[in-house]
Amino acid sequence: MVKLIGPKKLRTSVFISGRGSNFKNLLKFSLKKNFPIKIICVVSNNLNAKGLNIATKYKIKKKIYKSEYEILNYLNKNKIELICLAGFMKILSKNFIRNFKGKIINIHPSLLPKYKGLNTHQRVLDNKEKISGCTVHIVSPKLDSGKIILQKTVRISKKDNHRSLAKKILKQEHILYPKAIKKLLINL
Ligand code: GRF
Repeated sequence: MVKLIGPKKLRTSVFISGRGSNFKNLLKFSLKKNFPIKIICVVSNNLNAKGLNIATKYKIKKKIYKSEYEILNYLNKNKIELICLAGFMKILSKNFIRNFKGKIINIHPSLLPKYKGLNTHQRVLDNKEKISGCTVHIVSPKLDSGKIILQKTVRISKKDNHRSLAKKILKQEHILYPKAIKKLLINL
């Protein structure tokens, strides 16, 4: 894994498909002097992703994902060293992951290895779990299965529905993702 030496910030691309609250949060952190990434561009496979408005507002380059080949070229041209997936709803190929080995990370709203995939919160509630949470992990070719960097647990109350649980977990995601990036890059 690339280790940060001195004050250098890793050139980073964030991949989104929707709202982009994690993107916005990472952007906020990345503007701090001692945070080890600089967000160069945002990639979205959805032209209507709300998160793209955040990119416009903060003058971050935007790229619409049409083909993997095109995106790989774009990332190479922009000298991207780290990719942060943040609600990116497309599965990346083995070839793509190989090209950025150990340098693609993802946030997932469950305590992996439990509840990989979609509709996490409803499945957690249906199984009457008492806790859930979120996980930041390195992306490997198997969905939601790479090495875990950090996790955060959230208690589920009897009153929770999938919306309230998603909200509680999202709040923790916004703390966990920057913390995991720091852990990965500066071994804090
Ligand atoms: C988050 O819950 C994240 O864990 C999941 O997708 C959601 C994205 O939310 N992978 P946002 O677009 O960052 O607001």
